[in-house]
Amino acid sequence: MRGSFRRTSNPTTPYKLLAAALVIAFYFVTMLLRHSSQPARSPRPRDRGPAIQLQKWENDTGGPDTPKVTRVKDAMVHTFRNYRAAAWGHDDVLPVSGGYGDSRNGWGAFIVDSASTLALMGLWHELKLAIEHIVRVDFTITEDLVDPFETTIRYLGGLLSLVDLIDSQVVPPSVVSPGDRDKILAQAVALANKLGPAYDSPTGLAWPRVDFALNQGVPDPPEVYLKDPSKPRYEHPVINAARAGSSILENRALSRLSGREIYYQNATKSWAPLVWNRYLEEYPGLVDTPIDIVTGDAVSHQHHWDAGHDSYYEYLLKAAVLAPGDRYSDRYKSRWLAAARSFHKQLTSRSTPTETHKTQHLFMGKYHTGNLLNVQSHLACWAPGSFLLGGAYLQNKTMLNLGRALLEGCHHTYQSTTTGIGPESFSWIPYTNFPEIIYEPRADRSKAELAAHGFWAADPRFLLRPEYVEAVFYGWRITGEQRYRDWAWEAFEAMEKHCRTEHGYAAIADVFAEEGRVVQLDEQESFWSAETLKYLWLTFADVRVGSLDDWVYTTEGHPLRRDV
Ligand SMILES: *[C@@H]1O[C@H](CO)[C@@H](O)[C@H](O)[C@H]1NC(C)=O
Ligand SMILES: *[C@@H]1O[C@H](CO)[C@@H](O)[C@H](O)[C@H]1NC(C)=O
Repeated sequence: MRGSFRRTSNPTTPYKLLAAALVIAFYFVTMLLRHSSQPARSPRPRDRGPAIQLQKWENDTGGPDTPKVTRVKDAMVHTFRNYRAAAWGHDDVLPVSGGYGDSRNGWGAFIVDSASTLALMGLWHELKLAIEHIVRVDFTITEDLVDPFETTIRYLGGLLSLVDLIDSQVVPPSVVSPGDRDKILAQAVALANKLGPAYDSPTGLAWPRVDFALNQGVPDPPEVYLKDPSKPRYEHPVINAARAGSSILENRALSRLSGREIYYQNATKSWAPLVWNRYLEEYPGLVDTPIDIVTGDAVSHQHHWDAGHDSYYEYLLKAAVLAPGDRYSDRYKSRWLAAARSFHKQLTSRSTPTETHKTQHLFMGKYHTGNLLNVQSHLACWAPGSFLLGGAYLQNKTMLNLGRALLEGCHHTYQSTTTGIGPESFSWIPYTNFPEIIYEPRADRSKAELAAHGFWAADPRFLLRPEYVEAVFYGWRITGEQRYRDWAWEAFEAMEKHCRTEHGYAAIADVFAEEGRVVQLDEQESFWSAETLKYLWLTFADVRVGSLDDWVYTTEGHPLRRDV
Protein backbone atom coordinates (compact mmCIF):
# COMPACT_ATOMS: atom_id res chain seq x y z
CA MET A 1 0.00 0.00 0.00
CA ARG A 2 2.56 2.47 1.13
CA GLY A 3 4.67 1.85 -1.97
CA SER A 4 1.85 2.73 -4.30
CA PHE A 5 1.19 6.00 -2.48
CA ARG A 6 4.82 7.00 -2.85
CA ARG A 7 4.52 6.77 -6.56
CA THR A 8 1.78 9.44 -6.74
CA SER A 9 2.89 12.96 -7.71
CA ASN A 10 0.64 15.04 -5.47
CA PRO A 11 1.84 14.80 -1.86
CA THR A 12 -1.48 15.86 -0.24
CA THR A 13 -3.71 13.35 -2.08
CA PRO A 14 -2.25 10.22 -0.45
CA TYR A 15 -2.89 11.60 3.04
CA LYS A 16 -6.50 12.44 2.19
CA LEU A 17 -6.94 9.03 0.65
CA LEU A 18 -5.31 7.37 3.62
CA ALA A 19 -7.54 9.24 6.06
CA ALA A 20 -10.66 8.34 4.07
CA ALA A 21 -9.55 4.73 3.85
CA LEU A 22 -8.95 4.66 7.58
CA VAL A 23 -12.39 6.05 8.33
CA ILE A 24 -14.03 3.50 6.04
CA ALA A 25 -11.92 0.66 7.40
CA PHE A 26 -12.73 1.66 10.97
CA TYR A 27 -16.42 1.70 10.14
CA PHE A 28 -16.32 -1.79 8.60
CA VAL A 29 -14.24 -3.27 11.37
CA THR A 30 -16.66 -1.86 13.94
CA MET A 31 -19.65 -3.25 12.06
CA LEU A 32 -17.97 -6.60 11.59
CA LEU A 33 -17.09 -6.84 15.26
CA ARG A 34 -20.60 -5.93 16.26
CA HIS A 35 -22.14 -8.57 14.02
CA SER A 36 -19.74 -11.36 14.72
CA SER A 37 -19.45 -10.68 18.42
CA GLN A 38 -22.29 -12.95 19.54
CA PRO A 39 -20.83 -16.29 18.46
CA ALA A 40 -17.14 -15.34 18.51
CA ARG A 41 -16.78 -13.62 21.87
CA SER A 42 -16.60 -16.01 24.77
CA PRO A 43 -19.52 -15.28 27.04
CA ARG A 44 -18.99 -13.57 30.39
CA PRO A 45 -19.74 -15.70 33.44
CA ARG A 46 -23.25 -14.28 33.70
CA ASP A 47 -23.91 -15.47 30.15
CA ARG A 48 -23.51 -18.99 31.44
CA GLY A 49 -27.06 -18.86 32.74
CA PRO A 50 -28.33 -19.59 36.24
CA ALA A 51 -26.15 -21.12 38.96
CA ILE A 52 -26.42 -24.91 38.95
CA GLN A 53 -25.22 -25.95 42.38
CA LEU A 54 -27.10 -24.92 45.49
CA GLN A 55 -25.94 -21.41 46.41
CA LYS A 56 -26.62 -21.29 50.14
CA TRP A 57 -25.07 -24.03 52.24
CA GLU A 58 -26.27 -23.48 55.81
CA ASN A 59 -23.99 -24.28 58.77
CA ASP A 60 -21.08 -25.22 56.55
CA THR A 61 -22.89 -28.28 55.16
CA GLY A 62 -21.07 -27.68 51.89
CA GLY A 63 -17.74 -28.49 53.52
CA PRO A 64 -16.10 -31.89 53.21
CA ASP A 65 -17.18 -34.90 55.27
CA THR A 66 -13.58 -35.70 56.00
CA PRO A 67 -13.76 -39.27 57.37
CA LYS A 68 -15.86 -40.36 54.39
CA VAL A 69 -13.72 -38.54 51.83
CA THR A 70 -10.76 -40.38 53.29
CA ARG A 71 -12.43 -43.77 53.11
CA VAL A 72 -13.35 -43.34 49.43
CA LYS A 73 -9.84 -42.13 48.66
CA ASP A 74 -8.46 -45.24 50.38
CA ALA A 75 -10.63 -47.33 48.05
CA MET A 76 -9.05 -45.55 45.08
CA VAL A 77 -5.56 -46.14 46.47
CA HIS A 78 -6.37 -49.85 46.90
CA THR A 79 -7.71 -49.99 43.34
CA PHE A 80 -4.69 -48.22 41.85
CA ARG A 81 -2.04 -50.06 43.86
CA ASN A 82 -3.35 -53.48 42.93
CA TYR A 83 -3.85 -52.65 39.29
CA ARG A 84 -0.28 -51.43 39.29
CA ALA A 85 1.03 -54.58 40.90
CA ALA A 86 -0.80 -57.03 38.65
CA ALA A 87 -1.67 -55.30 35.39
CA TRP A 88 0.39 -52.15 34.85
CA GLY A 89 0.10 -50.93 31.24
CA HIS A 90 -2.76 -53.31 30.43
CA ASP A 91 -6.35 -52.18 30.11
CA ASP A 92 -7.73 -53.76 33.26
CA VAL A 93 -6.85 -55.89 36.23
CA LEU A 94 -8.89 -59.03 36.87
CA PRO A 95 -9.83 -58.39 40.48
CA VAL A 96 -10.37 -61.98 41.66
CA SER A 97 -7.58 -63.88 39.89
CA GLY A 98 -5.06 -61.04 39.76
CA GLY A 99 -4.67 -61.42 36.00
CA TYR A 100 -5.18 -58.75 33.40
CA GLY A 101 -7.25 -58.00 30.31
CA ASP A 102 -6.70 -55.94 27.16
CA SER A 103 -10.10 -55.43 25.64
CA ARG A 104 -9.63 -51.70 24.91
CA ASN A 105 -6.72 -51.90 22.47
CA GLY A 106 -4.20 -52.39 25.24
CA TRP A 107 -3.20 -48.75 25.71
CA GLY A 108 -3.76 -48.90 29.47
CA ALA A 109 -7.44 -47.94 29.61
CA PHE A 110 -7.44 -48.08 33.41
CA ILE A 111 -4.64 -45.53 33.65
CA VAL A 112 -6.11 -43.01 31.24
CA ASP A 113 -9.61 -43.44 32.64
CA SER A 114 -8.37 -43.05 36.24
CA ALA A 115 -6.23 -39.96 35.75
CA SER A 116 -8.95 -37.35 36.30
CA THR A 117 -10.06 -39.14 39.48
CA LEU A 118 -6.48 -39.19 40.79
CA ALA A 119 -6.21 -35.49 39.95
CA LEU A 120 -9.38 -34.50 41.80
CA MET A 121 -8.47 -36.63 44.81
CA GLY A 122 -4.99 -35.13 44.94
CA LEU A 123 -3.23 -38.49 44.65
CA TRP A 124 -0.10 -36.91 43.18
CA HIS A 125 2.25 -39.87 43.39
CA GLU A 126 -0.22 -42.07 41.52
CA LEU A 127 -0.99 -39.30 39.04
CA LYS A 128 2.70 -38.88 38.21
CA LEU A 129 2.94 -42.59 37.44
CA ALA A 130 -0.16 -42.34 35.28
CA ILE A 131 1.23 -39.37 33.32
CA GLU A 132 4.55 -41.16 32.78
CA HIS A 133 2.60 -43.96 31.10
CA ILE A 134 0.26 -41.68 29.16
CA VAL A 135 2.99 -39.66 27.46
CA ARG A 136 4.77 -42.84 26.36
CA VAL A 137 1.92 -44.89 24.82
CA ASP A 138 1.56 -44.98 21.06
CA PHE A 139 -2.17 -44.48 20.67
CA THR A 140 -1.93 -44.76 16.89
CA ILE A 141 -0.97 -48.42 16.82
CA THR A 142 -3.14 -51.39 17.73
CA GLU A 143 -3.73 -54.92 16.51
CA ASP A 144 -7.46 -54.77 17.17
CA LEU A 145 -10.18 -52.74 15.54
CA VAL A 146 -10.94 -49.53 17.43
CA ASP A 147 -14.37 -48.70 18.79
CA PRO A 148 -14.77 -44.94 18.20
CA PHE A 149 -17.41 -44.56 20.92
CA GLU A 150 -15.54 -46.32 23.74
CA THR A 151 -12.25 -44.76 22.64
CA THR A 152 -13.70 -41.26 22.61
CA ILE A 153 -15.39 -41.43 25.99
CA ARG A 154 -12.66 -43.30 27.87
CA TYR A 155 -9.34 -42.40 26.25
CA LEU A 156 -9.94 -39.08 24.52
CA GLY A 157 -12.14 -37.76 27.34
CA GLY A 158 -9.61 -38.90 29.94
CA LEU A 159 -6.70 -37.17 28.19
CA LEU A 160 -8.54 -33.89 27.59
CA SER A 161 -9.89 -33.73 31.11
CA LEU A 162 -6.36 -34.13 32.42
CA VAL A 163 -5.20 -31.18 30.30
CA ASP A 164 -8.09 -29.06 31.61
CA LEU A 165 -7.32 -30.06 35.20
CA ILE A 166 -3.68 -29.08 34.69
CA ASP A 167 -4.57 -25.77 33.00
CA SER A 168 -6.97 -24.83 35.78
CA GLN A 169 -4.30 -25.74 38.38
CA VAL A 170 -6.44 -28.38 40.07
CA VAL A 171 -3.22 -30.27 39.41
CA PRO A 172 -0.45 -28.01 40.78
CA PRO A 173 2.40 -27.23 38.40
CA SER A 174 4.86 -28.98 40.71
CA VAL A 175 3.20 -32.35 39.95
CA VAL A 176 3.60 -32.10 36.19
CA SER A 177 7.02 -32.23 34.53
CA PRO A 178 7.66 -29.41 32.05
CA GLY A 179 6.26 -30.28 28.68
CA ASP A 180 3.94 -33.01 29.96
CA ARG A 181 0.81 -30.95 29.51
CA ASP A 182 1.63 -30.39 25.84
CA LYS A 183 2.56 -34.04 25.40
CA ILE A 184 -0.78 -35.17 26.83
CA LEU A 185 -2.62 -32.83 24.47
CA ALA A 186 -0.50 -34.08 21.55
CA GLN A 187 -1.52 -37.63 22.46
CA ALA A 188 -5.17 -36.60 22.35
CA VAL A 189 -4.67 -34.95 18.97
CA ALA A 190 -2.86 -38.00 17.57
CA LEU A 191 -5.60 -40.33 18.77
CA ALA A 192 -8.41 -38.09 17.49
CA ASN A 193 -6.74 -37.85 14.08
CA LYS A 194 -6.61 -41.65 13.87
CA LEU A 195 -10.33 -41.74 14.77
CA GLY A 196 -11.08 -39.38 11.86
CA PRO A 197 -12.09 -42.12 9.38
CA ALA A 198 -14.91 -43.06 11.76
CA TYR A 199 -16.75 -40.00 10.45
CA ASP A 200 -16.14 -40.82 6.81
CA SER A 201 -19.64 -42.09 6.01
CA PRO A 202 -22.22 -40.61 3.60
CA THR A 203 -24.23 -39.20 6.53
CA GLY A 204 -21.37 -38.32 8.87
CA LEU A 205 -22.73 -40.91 11.35
CA ALA A 206 -19.82 -42.88 12.77
CA TRP A 207 -18.76 -46.30 11.54
CA PRO A 208 -18.97 -49.07 14.16
CA ARG A 209 -15.18 -49.54 14.14
CA VAL A 210 -12.00 -48.00 12.74
CA ASP A 211 -9.16 -50.04 11.30
CA PHE A 212 -6.05 -48.10 12.32
CA ALA A 213 -3.82 -50.03 9.91
CA LEU A 214 -5.98 -49.17 6.90
CA ASN A 215 -7.15 -45.77 8.22
CA GLN A 216 -10.69 -46.71 7.40
CA GLY A 217 -14.10 -47.03 9.03
CA VAL A 218 -15.38 -50.62 9.04
CA PRO A 219 -18.55 -52.54 10.03
CA ASP A 220 -18.98 -54.51 13.26
CA PRO A 221 -16.55 -57.43 13.39
CA PRO A 222 -18.02 -60.98 13.36
CA GLU A 223 -17.26 -61.43 17.10
CA VAL A 224 -20.00 -58.96 17.89
CA TYR A 225 -22.56 -61.30 16.34
CA LEU A 226 -20.97 -64.36 17.94
CA LYS A 227 -21.23 -62.73 21.36
CA ASP A 228 -24.81 -61.65 20.75
CA PRO A 229 -26.49 -63.98 18.21
CA SER A 230 -29.78 -62.11 18.61
CA LYS A 231 -28.23 -58.92 17.23
CA PRO A 232 -30.08 -58.23 13.96
CA ARG A 233 -28.15 -57.79 10.73
CA TYR A 234 -29.05 -54.99 8.36
CA GLU A 235 -27.98 -54.10 4.85
CA HIS A 236 -25.53 -51.42 6.00
CA PRO A 237 -23.90 -50.74 9.32
CA VAL A 238 -26.26 -49.14 11.83
CA ILE A 239 -25.74 -46.96 14.87
CA ASN A 240 -27.75 -46.36 18.03
CA ALA A 241 -28.42 -42.98 19.58
CA ALA A 242 -25.75 -43.17 22.29
CA ARG A 243 -22.98 -44.09 19.87
CA ALA A 244 -24.04 -41.41 17.39
CA GLY A 245 -24.45 -38.72 20.00
CA SER A 246 -21.62 -39.05 22.50
CA SER A 247 -18.62 -37.29 21.07
CA ILE A 248 -19.60 -33.63 21.05
CA LEU A 249 -18.26 -32.73 24.52
CA GLU A 250 -14.88 -34.36 23.99
CA ASN A 251 -14.44 -32.91 20.51
CA ARG A 252 -15.52 -29.45 21.54
CA ALA A 253 -12.86 -29.52 24.27
CA LEU A 254 -10.31 -30.81 21.79
CA SER A 255 -11.08 -28.02 19.29
CA ARG A 256 -10.79 -25.43 22.07
CA LEU A 257 -7.47 -26.83 23.29
CA SER A 258 -5.90 -27.53 19.89
CA GLY A 259 -7.29 -24.54 18.02
CA ARG A 260 -8.46 -26.85 15.22
CA GLU A 261 -12.17 -26.68 14.37
CA ILE A 262 -12.31 -29.98 12.48
CA TYR A 263 -12.95 -32.11 15.58
CA TYR A 264 -15.94 -30.11 16.69
CA GLN A 265 -17.21 -29.89 13.10
CA ASN A 266 -17.06 -33.64 12.59
CA ALA A 267 -18.73 -34.33 15.92
CA THR A 268 -21.46 -31.80 15.18
CA LYS A 269 -22.09 -33.36 11.79
CA SER A 270 -22.12 -36.83 13.25
CA TRP A 271 -25.04 -36.22 15.60
CA ALA A 272 -26.88 -33.82 13.29
CA PRO A 273 -29.23 -36.53 11.93
CA LEU A 274 -30.54 -36.92 15.50
CA VAL A 275 -30.51 -33.28 16.60
CA TRP A 276 -32.11 -32.10 13.35
CA ASN A 277 -34.18 -35.21 12.74
CA ARG A 278 -35.94 -35.06 9.37
CA TYR A 279 -38.51 -37.66 10.39
CA LEU A 280 -41.73 -37.19 12.28
CA GLU A 281 -41.31 -37.99 15.95
CA GLU A 282 -44.29 -39.59 17.65
CA TYR A 283 -43.04 -38.16 20.92
CA PRO A 284 -41.10 -34.98 20.11
CA GLY A 285 -37.42 -35.24 20.93
CA LEU A 286 -37.31 -39.04 21.18
CA VAL A 287 -35.47 -40.41 18.16
CA ASP A 288 -36.02 -43.84 16.67
CA THR A 289 -32.90 -45.92 16.19
CA PRO A 290 -30.88 -47.85 15.12
CA ILE A 291 -30.06 -45.66 12.13
CA ASP A 292 -28.46 -46.82 8.89
CA ILE A 293 -25.18 -44.87 8.60
CA VAL A 294 -25.39 -44.87 4.78
CA THR A 295 -28.98 -43.71 4.27
CA GLY A 296 -29.65 -42.00 7.61
CA ASP A 297 -32.95 -43.91 7.95
CA ALA A 298 -34.11 -45.59 11.14
CA VAL A 299 -34.16 -49.36 10.56
CA SER A 300 -36.21 -50.08 13.67
CA HIS A 301 -38.41 -48.17 16.07
CA GLN A 302 -36.82 -48.09 19.48
CA HIS A 303 -36.52 -45.16 21.79
CA HIS A 304 -35.81 -44.70 25.46
CA TRP A 305 -33.21 -43.21 27.83
CA ASP A 306 -31.71 -46.56 28.74
CA ALA A 307 -28.65 -48.48 27.50
CA GLY A 308 -27.72 -47.65 23.92
CA HIS A 309 -29.64 -44.37 23.84
CA ASP A 310 -28.74 -42.70 27.15
CA SER A 311 -25.76 -40.48 26.47
CA TYR A 312 -27.23 -38.82 23.35
CA TYR A 313 -29.82 -37.22 25.62
CA GLU A 314 -27.20 -36.65 28.29
CA TYR A 315 -25.00 -34.76 25.80
CA LEU A 316 -27.82 -32.56 24.45
CA LEU A 317 -28.12 -30.89 27.83
CA LYS A 318 -24.44 -30.98 28.68
CA ALA A 319 -23.41 -29.51 25.30
CA ALA A 320 -25.63 -26.51 26.09
CA VAL A 321 -24.18 -26.23 29.60
CA LEU A 322 -20.58 -26.64 28.39
CA ALA A 323 -20.78 -23.92 25.76
CA PRO A 324 -23.74 -21.61 26.44
CA GLY A 325 -22.50 -19.16 23.80
CA ASP A 326 -22.36 -21.72 21.02
CA ARG A 327 -24.62 -21.03 18.06
CA TYR A 328 -26.42 -24.35 18.49
CA SER A 329 -26.79 -24.33 22.25
CA ASP A 330 -30.41 -23.15 22.13
CA ARG A 331 -31.22 -25.97 19.76
CA TYR A 332 -29.56 -28.52 22.07
CA LYS A 333 -31.42 -27.13 25.05
CA SER A 334 -34.80 -27.24 23.37
CA ARG A 335 -34.18 -30.75 22.01
CA TRP A 336 -33.28 -31.94 25.49
CA LEU A 337 -36.33 -30.28 27.01
CA ALA A 338 -38.65 -31.81 24.42
CA ALA A 339 -37.07 -35.23 24.90
CA ALA A 340 -37.26 -34.97 28.68
CA ARG A 341 -40.93 -34.05 28.52
CA SER A 342 -41.72 -36.90 26.12
CA PHE A 343 -39.66 -39.33 28.15
CA HIS A 344 -41.59 -38.45 31.27
CA LYS A 345 -44.92 -38.64 29.46
CA GLN A 346 -44.41 -41.88 27.60
CA LEU A 347 -41.72 -43.90 29.33
CA THR A 348 -41.94 -43.42 33.08
CA SER A 349 -44.31 -45.66 34.98
CA ARG A 350 -45.40 -46.08 38.58
CA SER A 351 -45.19 -49.52 40.07
CA THR A 352 -48.24 -51.36 41.40
CA PRO A 353 -48.56 -51.67 45.17
CA THR A 354 -48.49 -55.22 46.54
CA GLU A 355 -49.96 -56.71 49.71
CA THR A 356 -46.70 -56.33 51.54
CA HIS A 357 -45.15 -53.38 49.72
CA LYS A 358 -47.60 -50.54 49.45
CA THR A 359 -45.26 -47.79 48.26
CA GLN A 360 -45.27 -47.01 44.56
CA HIS A 361 -42.06 -46.10 42.78
CA LEU A 362 -41.38 -44.26 39.57
CA PHE A 363 -39.45 -46.44 37.13
CA MET A 364 -38.24 -45.97 33.56
CA GLY A 365 -39.20 -48.25 30.68
CA LYS A 366 -38.46 -48.47 26.96
CA TYR A 367 -40.36 -48.26 23.70
CA HIS A 368 -39.59 -51.10 21.33
CA THR A 369 -41.49 -51.50 18.02
CA GLY A 370 -45.00 -50.95 19.31
CA ASN A 371 -44.43 -52.16 22.87
CA LEU A 372 -43.70 -50.36 26.11
CA LEU A 373 -41.33 -52.62 27.98
CA ASN A 374 -41.52 -52.71 31.77
CA VAL A 375 -37.81 -53.23 32.27
CA GLN A 376 -35.16 -50.81 33.48
CA SER A 377 -31.39 -51.16 33.54
CA HIS A 378 -29.07 -49.87 36.22
CA LEU A 379 -27.71 -47.71 33.38
CA ALA A 380 -30.99 -45.76 33.23
CA CYS A 381 -30.31 -44.36 36.70
CA TRP A 382 -28.21 -41.65 35.00
CA ALA A 383 -31.53 -40.01 34.03
CA PRO A 384 -32.51 -38.58 37.45
CA GLY A 385 -29.15 -36.77 37.44
CA SER A 386 -29.98 -35.26 34.05
CA PHE A 387 -33.40 -34.10 35.26
CA LEU A 388 -31.74 -32.51 38.28
CA LEU A 389 -29.05 -30.82 36.17
CA GLY A 390 -31.60 -29.66 33.60
CA GLY A 391 -34.03 -28.56 36.30
CA ALA A 392 -31.34 -26.41 37.89
CA TYR A 393 -30.03 -25.02 34.61
CA LEU A 394 -33.45 -24.27 33.13
CA GLN A 395 -34.86 -23.27 36.52
CA ASN A 396 -37.71 -25.74 36.24
CA LYS A 397 -39.06 -27.00 39.58
CA THR A 398 -41.17 -29.72 37.97
CA MET A 399 -38.03 -31.23 36.51
CA LEU A 400 -36.16 -31.05 39.79
CA ASN A 401 -39.00 -32.92 41.45
CA LEU A 402 -39.10 -35.50 38.70
CA GLY A 403 -35.37 -35.99 39.15
CA ARG A 404 -35.91 -36.55 42.87
CA ALA A 405 -38.73 -39.05 42.22
CA LEU A 406 -36.74 -41.03 39.65
CA LEU A 407 -33.75 -41.09 41.97
CA GLU A 408 -35.96 -42.42 44.76
CA GLY A 409 -36.91 -45.30 42.43
CA CYS A 410 -33.25 -46.15 41.87
CA HIS A 411 -32.53 -45.82 45.58
CA HIS A 412 -35.36 -48.22 46.30
CA THR A 413 -33.69 -50.90 44.14
CA TYR A 414 -30.50 -50.48 46.18
CA GLN A 415 -32.19 -50.42 49.53
CA SER A 416 -34.30 -53.54 48.88
CA THR A 417 -31.58 -56.10 48.21
CA THR A 418 -29.68 -58.16 50.76
CA THR A 419 -26.38 -56.62 49.63
CA GLY A 420 -27.61 -53.00 49.57
CA ILE A 421 -26.73 -52.71 45.88
CA GLY A 422 -29.19 -52.43 42.99
CA PRO A 423 -29.42 -55.02 40.17
CA GLU A 424 -28.16 -54.71 36.58
CA SER A 425 -31.82 -54.72 35.42
CA PHE A 426 -35.27 -55.21 36.90
CA SER A 427 -38.99 -55.23 36.10
CA TRP A 428 -42.17 -54.07 37.83
CA ILE A 429 -45.91 -54.35 37.24
CA PRO A 430 -46.92 -51.03 35.67
CA TYR A 431 -49.66 -49.21 37.50
CA THR A 432 -49.59 -46.17 35.24
CA ASN A 433 -48.73 -45.43 31.65
CA PHE A 434 -47.96 -48.86 30.18
CA PRO A 435 -51.13 -50.47 28.81
CA GLU A 436 -49.70 -54.00 28.62
CA ILE A 437 -47.56 -56.06 30.92
CA ILE A 438 -44.84 -57.42 28.69
CA TYR A 439 -42.64 -59.00 31.35
CA GLU A 440 -44.18 -60.98 34.19
CA PRO A 441 -42.47 -62.68 37.10
CA ARG A 442 -42.12 -66.39 36.35
CA ALA A 443 -39.70 -67.90 38.85
CA ASP A 444 -40.77 -68.22 42.50
CA ARG A 445 -37.85 -66.03 43.39
CA SER A 446 -39.11 -63.23 41.11
CA LYS A 447 -42.60 -63.50 42.54
CA ALA A 448 -41.25 -63.25 46.06
CA GLU A 449 -39.10 -60.22 45.19
CA LEU A 450 -42.09 -58.54 43.56
CA ALA A 451 -44.31 -59.12 46.58
CA ALA A 452 -41.71 -57.86 49.01
CA HIS A 453 -40.33 -54.88 47.07
CA GLY A 454 -42.59 -53.99 44.15
CA PHE A 455 -39.98 -55.04 41.55
CA TRP A 456 -37.95 -58.13 40.70
CA ALA A 457 -34.43 -58.53 39.36
CA ALA A 458 -34.29 -59.40 35.66
CA ASP A 459 -30.49 -59.55 35.78
CA PRO A 460 -29.28 -59.69 39.40
CA ARG A 461 -25.61 -58.84 38.76
CA PHE A 462 -23.85 -55.66 39.84
CA LEU A 463 -21.08 -54.65 37.45
CA LEU A 464 -19.58 -51.80 39.54
CA ARG A 465 -21.59 -49.34 37.49
CA PRO A 466 -21.69 -45.66 38.45
CA GLU A 467 -25.10 -44.36 37.32
CA TYR A 468 -26.84 -44.49 40.67
CA VAL A 469 -24.09 -42.79 42.69
CA GLU A 470 -23.64 -40.35 39.81
CA ALA A 471 -27.29 -39.25 40.11
CA VAL A 472 -26.94 -39.09 43.89
CA PHE A 473 -23.97 -36.73 43.39
CA TYR A 474 -26.17 -34.40 41.27
CA GLY A 475 -28.88 -34.68 43.91
CA TRP A 476 -26.47 -33.58 46.63
CA ARG A 477 -24.76 -30.73 44.80
CA ILE A 478 -28.03 -29.31 43.44
CA THR A 479 -30.41 -29.68 46.39
CA GLY A 480 -28.06 -29.94 49.38
CA GLU A 481 -30.40 -32.49 51.01
CA GLN A 482 -28.43 -34.56 53.50
CA ARG A 483 -30.21 -37.79 52.55
CA TYR A 484 -28.19 -37.89 49.32
CA ARG A 485 -24.92 -37.98 51.23
CA ASP A 486 -26.47 -40.74 53.35
CA TRP A 487 -27.47 -42.73 50.27
CA ALA A 488 -23.98 -42.38 48.81
CA TRP A 489 -22.47 -43.64 52.04
CA GLU A 490 -24.80 -46.65 52.22
CA ALA A 491 -23.88 -47.55 48.64
CA PHE A 492 -20.17 -47.15 49.31
CA GLU A 493 -20.24 -49.32 52.42
CA ALA A 494 -22.15 -52.02 50.54
CA MET A 495 -19.53 -51.99 47.77
CA GLU A 496 -16.71 -52.12 50.30
CA LYS A 497 -18.29 -55.10 51.96
CA HIS A 498 -19.22 -57.14 48.89
CA CYS A 499 -16.98 -56.07 46.03
CA ARG A 500 -13.55 -55.51 47.57
CA THR A 501 -10.98 -58.17 46.73
CA GLU A 502 -7.27 -58.70 47.17
CA HIS A 503 -6.64 -57.23 43.71
CA GLY A 504 -9.23 -54.47 43.53
CA TYR A 505 -13.01 -54.46 43.41
CA ALA A 506 -15.10 -57.11 41.68
CA ALA A 507 -18.49 -57.22 40.03
CA ILE A 508 -20.90 -59.54 41.84
CA ALA A 509 -23.21 -62.24 40.49
CA ASP A 510 -26.34 -61.61 42.53
CA VAL A 511 -27.28 -58.55 44.57
CA PHE A 512 -29.98 -60.62 46.30
CA ALA A 513 -27.47 -63.25 47.50
CA GLU A 514 -27.76 -64.30 51.11
CA GLU A 515 -25.22 -63.13 53.65
CA GLY A 516 -21.94 -64.97 53.06
CA ARG A 517 -23.02 -66.29 49.66
CA VAL A 518 -22.03 -63.37 47.47
CA VAL A 519 -20.17 -64.58 44.39
CA GLN A 520 -17.57 -62.21 42.98
CA LEU A 521 -16.96 -62.06 39.23
CA ASP A 522 -13.47 -61.60 37.81
CA GLU A 523 -14.09 -58.20 36.24
CA GLN A 524 -13.47 -54.58 37.14
CA GLU A 525 -14.23 -52.22 34.27
CA SER A 526 -12.39 -48.91 34.15
CA PHE A 527 -15.57 -46.95 34.91
CA TRP A 528 -15.18 -48.16 38.50
CA SER A 529 -12.29 -45.75 39.05
CA ALA A 530 -13.26 -43.22 36.36
CA GLU A 531 -16.79 -42.75 37.64
CA THR A 532 -18.09 -44.78 40.57
CA LEU A 533 -15.31 -43.84 42.97
CA LYS A 534 -15.07 -40.30 41.58
CA TYR A 535 -18.77 -39.50 42.12
CA LEU A 536 -18.71 -41.05 45.59
CA TRP A 537 -15.66 -38.99 46.50
CA LEU A 538 -17.14 -35.79 45.04
CA THR A 539 -20.29 -36.28 47.11
CA PHE A 540 -18.27 -36.10 50.34
CA ALA A 541 -15.74 -33.50 49.19
CA ASP A 542 -16.10 -29.75 49.56
CA VAL A 543 -18.87 -28.69 47.17
CA ARG A 544 -16.54 -26.19 45.52
CA VAL A 545 -14.32 -28.99 44.25
CA GLY A 546 -15.26 -29.92 40.68
CA SER A 547 -18.25 -27.58 40.92
CA LEU A 548 -21.05 -28.10 38.42
CA ASP A 549 -20.90 -24.37 37.78
CA ASP A 550 -17.36 -24.67 36.40
CA TRP A 551 -17.19 -28.21 35.00
CA VAL A 552 -19.23 -30.52 32.84
CA TYR A 553 -18.75 -34.24 33.47
CA THR A 554 -18.62 -36.39 30.35
CA THR A 555 -20.52 -39.64 30.16
CA GLU A 556 -17.37 -41.35 31.46
CA GLY A 557 -17.15 -38.93 34.39
CA HIS A 558 -14.31 -36.79 33.03
CA PRO A 559 -14.67 -33.11 33.97
CA LEU A 560 -14.25 -30.59 31.14
CA ARG A 561 -14.12 -26.83 31.70
CA ARG A 562 -17.17 -24.83 30.81
CA ASP A 563 -16.62 -21.88 28.46
CA VAL A 564 -15.87 -18.78 30.51
C1 LIG B 1 -13.47 -35.44 9.62
O1 LIG B 1 -14.43 -36.07 8.82
C2 LIG B 1 -13.97 -36.46 7.52
C3 LIG B 1 -15.15 -37.04 6.77
O2 LIG B 1 -16.14 -36.08 6.62
C4 LIG B 1 -12.84 -37.45 7.67
O3 LIG B 1 -12.35 -37.83 6.40
C5 LIG B 1 -11.75 -36.86 8.49
O4 LIG B 1 -10.75 -37.83 8.71
C6 LIG B 1 -12.29 -36.37 9.83
N1 LIG B 1 -11.22 -35.72 10.55
C7 LIG B 1 -11.12 -35.75 11.87
C8 LIG B 1 -9.92 -35.11 12.43
O5 LIG B 1 -11.96 -36.25 12.57
C1 LIG C 1 -40.68 -27.87 33.03
O1 LIG C 1 -40.57 -29.29 33.00
C2 LIG C 1 -41.78 -29.97 32.74
C3 LIG C 1 -41.52 -31.45 32.92
O2 LIG C 1 -40.65 -31.95 31.95
C4 LIG C 1 -42.31 -29.58 31.38
O3 LIG C 1 -43.50 -30.24 31.10
C5 LIG C 1 -42.49 -28.09 31.31
O4 LIG C 1 -42.87 -27.71 30.02
C6 LIG C 1 -41.20 -27.37 31.69
N1 LIG C 1 -41.43 -25.94 31.78
C7 LIG C 1 -40.79 -25.06 31.02
C8 LIG C 1 -41.13 -23.62 31.23
O5 LIG C 1 -39.97 -25.38 30.19
